[in-house]
Amino acid sequence: MRRCDLTVRIGEMILKNPVIVSSGTFGFGEEFEDFLDLDHLGAIIPKGISLRPMQGNPPPRIFETEGGILNSIGLQNPGVKEFIKYKLPYYRNLKTHLIINFFGNTQKEYVELARILDNIGGISGLEMNISCPNIKRCGIVFGSDPRMAHRLVRAVRKATRLILIVKLSPNVTDIASMAKSVEEGGADAVSLVNTFRAMAVNIHSRKPELGNVIGGLSGPAIKPIALRMVWEVNQVVKIPIIGMGGITNAGDAIEFILAGASAIQIGTANLINPRAGIEILAGLKRYLILNKITEIQKLVGAFG
Ligand SMILES: Cc1cc2nc3c(=O)[nH]c(=O)nc-3n(C[C@H](O)[C@H](O)[C@H](O)COP(=O)(O)O)c2cc1C
Repeated sequence: MRRCDLTVRIGEMILKNPVIVSSGTFGFGEEFEDFLDLDHLGAIIPKGISLRPMQGNPPPRIFETEGGILNSIGLQNPGVKEFIKYKLPYYRNLKTHLIINFFGNTQKEYVELARILDNIGGISGLEMNISCPNIKRCGIVFGSDPRMAHRLVRAVRKATRLILIVKLSPNVTDIASMAKSVEEGGADAVSLVNTFRAMAVNIHSRKPELGNVIGGLSGPAIKPIALRMVWEVNQVVKIPIIGMGGITNAGDAIEFILAGASAIQIGTANLINPRAGIEILAGLKRYLILNKITEIQKLVGAFG
C-alpha cells in the first residue's frame, strides 16, 4: 500500500492534510518560503490581527526555558487595514488554506473584525483567540469565563459565514466546559491550546527575564498538559478539535490525533526548525504506510 488519505474536514473546509502552522510562530508565511513549499501545508495561520495596530510589550519578549520558550510579544501586529492591503495579496497565489487568527479588547471589536474579514475573498476560516482581557469587564480574560466566551462566540457567529474556529486558553480549571460553551455558541471547531501563563527570574540582576514579567509558555514542556486537555475536550464536544502544544515530531502529532485531534498545529517547533511542518507531515505519511492505515481520519480519537 503506497497511497493514504490525509485529508481532514474542519466544518466545510477540507484540508489536504492535518498539518497547520500556528499563529505567531510562522510570521506572515512569506518569511518561510525559502525553507519549504507552503502549498504542502494543510493551512497557514498568520500572526494574530486586531482592529488597530498594536505595538506589543516592552523587551525582552522571548526567553528560553527548559524544554520551551516564554514569550510576551503582546500580540504586536499591523492592524487589519494594513494586513488586508499589504499582507493578504501574498496568499492569493498559494494553494493552501488561509485561516486568520484575530482578537479584540471588547465584544464589539471581535464582531467588527469578523465582519471586515467576512467581506474579503481568499480567507478559508477564522481562528478567534479568546485568551485576551475584556477591557469592559475589568480585564477578565474572555477565554476563562464560559458564559462570556459563549456570548462572544454567538455574537461573532452572526457576523461571519466563514468557518469559525475558537482557540482556547489553557489557563482555566475546566477546559472541557469552556469547549462545550463555545460549541454551543456556534463554533465550527476548537483549537487548543494557547500558551500557559508563566515567568522566569534572573537571579543575578534579580529582575524578571521578560519585560512584561509574565509571558506565555510554549514548546515541548507543555505537551503532556496540552495532550490531556485535547483528550478531555474530546469527551464532551462533537465539533472537530485542532490540537497543539509542544508538537516537534510526527510521534507527537500522532499522540494528539489519537487523543482526539482532527488536525494539529505546529508552533514553537517552527522557530527551531523552519521545516518542522513538512518533516512532521512526511513522518505522518510514513506512520500510516507502516501501519497499513488508509485514512488518517481513522486515527482520530482511536486511543484507549
Ligand atoms: C512567539 C509566539 C507568538 C504567538 N502569537 C500568537 C498569536 O498572535 N495568536 C495566538 O492565538 N497564539 C499565538 N501564539 C501561541 C501559539 O500559536 C500556540 O498556541 C502555542 O505556542 C502552543 O503551541 P506550541 O507549543 O507548539 O508552540 C504564539 C506563540 C509564540 C511562541
